[in-house]
Amino acid sequence: MEALEKKAKEVLVNNFKEGFSIPCAKLYPFQWFWDSGLIAIGFAHFDMEKAEQEIETLLDAQWGNGFIPHIIFHTETDTYFPGADFHQSNLHPEASKKYRSTGMTQPPVTGFVLEEMYRISKDKPATLKYIETVIDKVYSNHNYFFTKRDPQNEGLVYIYHNWESGTDNSPIWDDIWATMNPPEYTFERRDTTHVDASERPSKREYDHYLHIIEIAKEHNYSDEKIAELSPFLVQDPLFNAMLIKSNQSLIALYKLIGNNDDKVEQLQKWQDKSVKSFNNKLFDEELGAYIHYDLRNEKPLRYLSSSSFAPLYANIPSKERAASMVNIMMDKFGGDQQYLCASFDPTSERFNPKKYWRGPVWVNLNWMLFNGLNQYGYNNIAERVKQDTIDIIANNGFYEYFDSRKQAHKDGNAGYGGNDFSWSAALYIDLLKR
Ligand code: DGY
Repeated sequence: MEALEKKAKEVLVNNFKEGFSIPCAKLYPFQWFWDSGLIAIGFAHFDMEKAEQEIETLLDAQWGNGFIPHIIFHTETDTYFPGADFHQSNLHPEASKKYRSTGMTQPPVTGFVLEEMYRISKDKPATLKYIETVIDKVYSNHNYFFTKRDPQNEGLVYIYHNWESGTDNSPIWDDIWATMNPPEYTFERRDTTHVDASERPSKREYDHYLHIIEIAKEHNYSDEKIAELSPFLVQDPLFNAMLIKSNQSLIALYKLIGNNDDKVEQLQKWQDKSVKSFNNKLFDEELGAYIHYDLRNEKPLRYLSSSSFAPLYANIPSKERAASMVNIMMDKFGGDQQYLCASFDPTSERFNPKKYWRGPVWVNLNWMLFNGLNQYGYNNIAERVKQDTIDIIANNGFYEYFDSRKQAHKDGNAGYGGNDFSWSAALYIDLLKR
């Protein structure tokens, strides 16, 4: 375990560039929004200065309207597609003048990451001082979400691209692809030169991904136009749970800092409305857990995925609902031949245990589940999630994702995607300390 912890720290240190971390070499050579946040949690355990820099650099790329992009292209490299020239973030009038980026965002983890850094810190007054210097930017990011991404004023924000969800090629999106017919684009993928194509999205899926961006670009990434026209417009339970969790953290941190009653009041208003709508709209009684809602086509997307259980981390479900979620999770995802927690329903015919977000286990979702289960008193199951995570890493290394079937780990390597992957290392360090 000690050797593995040392290796985890090495992974993080090697992936730290000038003030920010890459998720892993070649496959993801820039700064990614939610990766950065989760990486800072790992650094906080042994190098708080790097954790602070990570967040500072991320927030430095914030746009005038509070938006934070999903990728910040700090460097030039041809190992990634689609890069800065494709995304053209400068089309948006309020885009950062300093950095080139994408024109889409990712799950808003920054608020709760700051609170985690404070929890981990051995010098809390110093960390709180640091938080004071960045917290208003995170507040302004939340303001962006609630004022620009909620066209029906429900307290639930939309995502307009599968890459905004973080769960890039989830089978849930298949229903949306079925409503679209994008052109066959000509482009050169780079991801499949680094990673086996069987572990990555298909060419046709990429056509959809690019098409949505083309539509957004035609309208200079205008939020209003995107809400009106994007064929992909979804209320995602993972994304909204991250926002709610971060809201809660901002409230706690502003109270610690003091003298911010107006912001606390506004955050509390957003929070109350969000949690209420989340419970009214996204809980599926029959499935017993939370699901996605397709806002473009006005219909629920009734599938179970690891995102269905993430609301535990944000304290969204009642005790009764939490009990139902845990039952379903253990019943469908938690058999003794499986590692917790597959990213998609293992009993579904769309499940694929090797393909990116169509089934493999991801360390970041497991980390959220571990915390969520503990918060609701399911300590034994939380412990299993922790142990499963440690085992799959010990068996294979710090991969991006892992096969959920135990048998696959007996047969050989069952770690997939990028190796020496930063958030797998970062959250492993945090899990070990719990
Ligand atoms: C990719 O390129 O697959 C990234 O996950 C997009 O964010």
